[in-house]
Amino acid sequence: MSSNSFYDRDIVSIKDFTKDDLEFIFDATDKVSKLRPAERSELGKGRTLGYIFYEPSTRTRMSFEAAMASLGGSSIGISDLKSSSVEKGESLADTIRIIDLYSDVIVLRHPLDGSSRFAAELSQNPIINAGSGSEEHPTQALLDLYTILKEKKKIDGLSIAIVGDLKYGRTVYSLLYALTNYDVDLHLVSPPSLAVRKESIYEVQGKLRIKEHSELADGVLSDADVIYVTRIQRERFPDLQEYEKVRGTYTIDENTLAKAKPDVAVMHPLPRVDEISQNIDHTKNAIYFKQASYGKELRAALLALMLNESLPG
Ligand code: CP
Repeated sequence: MSSNSFYDRDIVSIKDFTKDDLEFIFDATDKVSKLRPAERSELGKGRTLGYIFYEPSTRTRMSFEAAMASLGGSSIGISDLKSSSVEKGESLADTIRIIDLYSDVIVLRHPLDGSSRFAAELSQNPIINAGSGSEEHPTQALLDLYTILKEKKKIDGLSIAIVGDLKYGRTVYSLLYALTNYDVDLHLVSPPSLAVRKESIYEVQGKLRIKEHSELADGVLSDADVIYVTRIQRERFPDLQEYEKVRGTYTIDENTLAKAKPDVAVMHPLPRVDEISQNIDHTKNAIYFKQASYGKELRAALLALMLNESLPG
């Protein structure tokens, strides 16, 4: 392994990572996953993860906590704003300054784009962006790529369809930027009103082969090695009537799989609402729960790298 560039580093945007960085963390995830519990629990011993979630979370918060526990560390945090002094009007800046006093690494989810970059400028300890508005969710992209790598044994050469709410889905943007490090064909499938924001298309142009679609057409299904499905982000619509127009546009079900490659991998950052039928949960194609499980391992490796100059072995 080359030297650890994650040590004491903020994780704000996936755009800050080179391909070498990505491969380094994937190798570290393999390595940390194979450590004996006694060895693994030395990597975060005596260290504290502090978190604050201004928006709801199940996987990100719990996987970070579980990851930190597996490294022998502890977690403290705020997931219910009503029980915190945010409710009394405390600013994001002061809240971060306080968590910084009590923690070695800080996980932040906030509804505003730029919130994690702002927090990183204030905090002495490293910040991990656990979702900043509809801007980015970089650790989700790391675990998404790791999942693809584990399941498909490669990323280069794949055809990937990203389906659903491509306008507001922050996981989409981090994944899109991360994929610019690879040689992939991308199908972006969304209602026209939920297409990827133009500035991001311009940013990745020339680095990815992109086709945009409004239908999940047979040609897309027969081409895709991975179908990455996203929820329509009801909470981000300024006008709920607009949400009603697009809700339920796509559903991945047995009929969809019948038209797809037999080994297509169906992924989803979760939570899902109605965009993937539970009828396909038992199929070998449905890897979204495995994806969530890889999330804990990848986040454990990330924390281990951020807290230690080097890993054992
Ligand atoms: N994928 C994801 O961010 O899930 P949560 O919102 O449950 O953390």
